[in-house]
Amino acid sequence: MNAAVTTSLFFVFLFLKVDCLKLEEVFVLSRHNLRTPLTDKLQHVTPYPFPKWETKAGYLTSKGVLLEGYMGEYFNEWLRKEGLFTNECPSEDSVFFYSNVKQRTIETAKAFAESAFENCNVSIHFKKNATVDPVFNPVITNTSEVFKELYTASMQRKLNDLNLKDAYTELDKIIDIKKSDICQKHSFCDLVNRKDEILYRPGKEPDIFGPLSIGNSLVDSFLMSYYSGAKTEDIAWGKITTSEQWRKLLQITWENQNVRFNHTLASDIVKHMLNFIKNSLLTENTARKLTMLVGHDSNLNSIMAALKFKKYSLPGQYEITPIGGKIVFQKWSDDDKYYFLKVEYVYQSRDQIRDGSKLSMKDPPQTVLMELTDCKVNEAGYCPWSCFVDVLKNIN
Ligand SMILES: *[C@@H]1O[C@H](CO)[C@@H](O)[C@H](O)[C@H]1NC(C)=O
Ligand SMILES: *[C@@H]1O[C@H](CO)[C@@H](O)[C@H](O)[C@H]1NC(C)=O
Ligand SMILES: *[C@@H]1O[C@H](CO)[C@@H](O)[C@H](O)[C@H]1NC(C)=O
Ligand SMILES: *[C@@H]1O[C@H](CO)[C@@H](O)[C@H](O)[C@H]1NC(C)=O
Repeated sequence: MNAAVTTSLFFVFLFLKVDCLKLEEVFVLSRHNLRTPLTDKLQHVTPYPFPKWETKAGYLTSKGVLLEGYMGEYFNEWLRKEGLFTNECPSEDSVFFYSNVKQRTIETAKAFAESAFENCNVSIHFKKNATVDPVFNPVITNTSEVFKELYTASMQRKLNDLNLKDAYTELDKIIDIKKSDICQKHSFCDLVNRKDEILYRPGKEPDIFGPLSIGNSLVDSFLMSYYSGAKTEDIAWGKITTSEQWRKLLQITWENQNVRFNHTLASDIVKHMLNFIKNSLLTENTARKLTMLVGHDSNLNSIMAALKFKKYSLPGQYEITPIGGKIVFQKWSDDDKYYFLKVEYVYQSRDQIRDGSKLSMKDPPQTVLMELTDCKVNEAGYCPWSCFVDVLKNIN
């Protein structure tokens, strides 16, 4: 690109009138909505019984279907307002829904599609008869010793920096771990003084075993009860009563993701998803208006690390990648056909989830502007699309 073009692009970028921008295409990377806790094998860490759930561990709940339907309705309203779709059913090549093979992701995609495009018979794509889909599986595939050393060192640095003493002390009290089987039979009697062990196994997700993984499962289980609308006395045996406690405890789930997936090197473990994103967004396909991937917090966290998103915070949420939350990549154009990127995190607040609030343009979900480290946004939140293209191309 010569200097004159660069300068004029810069000029256009600085003075572009936001009103004149037109939404051209949307790419959504979504986490599944409200599910049951991932494991029902926590009984050994506490003497107290866990609540019974309506479905198997890790399944989307009926409230999850409802909440995701609300998201679909909101997106429908927004996308029609921006002129990307009309009241008619979308043409087959204009939408593409792609889910992981898990029940909770497939049902999330269905719930969204069925309310965003009511009675339109939009297909949900997923790998049939498969137990895994590499696109949604952030696992270690680079078997070199170098990669192992770099990745585990990066995990270890984050483990060393953890500051979860208060959270673990709180959790030890809640679960009364001293009276549990794990204490009485295995002398594992607190979370606060234990160290985490890194589990690095090719073909598997980078993982840990210790207070962070146990704490993560526990807090996740309490949070799903909270979201499901359970009475306070039925959540964590009535022992979480303040938002300060929630904030503290949720640091555990946040750090669990941070330690495992928030590394620049994560571009290696999410290469299949990155390739899908590159193919979608770098290939000229004028028909495609909406692409939505439905996966997991691990997908969102590793993709954000690989693309080097700046630090962000989500008001109304203690989760850093909330259930049902979506990273929404938007391609906009101006009258001269210059293209711009805007990225927003669209998510339901903890109250919207617990209350099961209907969503619309009038009562919208939460929206937070996101920024890539390498693409500075202007005041209105846009960066040149060409910058995003460079970021995608430069990821190995
Ligand atoms: C829905 O779409 C599928 C696959 O494209 C097709 O086989 C089926 O007949 C359609 N059903 C209706 C009711 O249009
Ligand atoms: C999928 O699995 C079912 C049950 O195991 C089997 O009946 C069916 O033929 C399989 N379909 C494909 C496309 O492999
Ligand atoms: C594995 O990781 C190392 C270190 O990041 C990198 O140099 C190498 O190219 C990777 N190998 C493959 C096959 O991607
Ligand atoms: C990801 O890691 C970076 C660098 O360690 C850190 O600054 C950032 O806060 C982390 N992001 C999240 C969401 O944990």
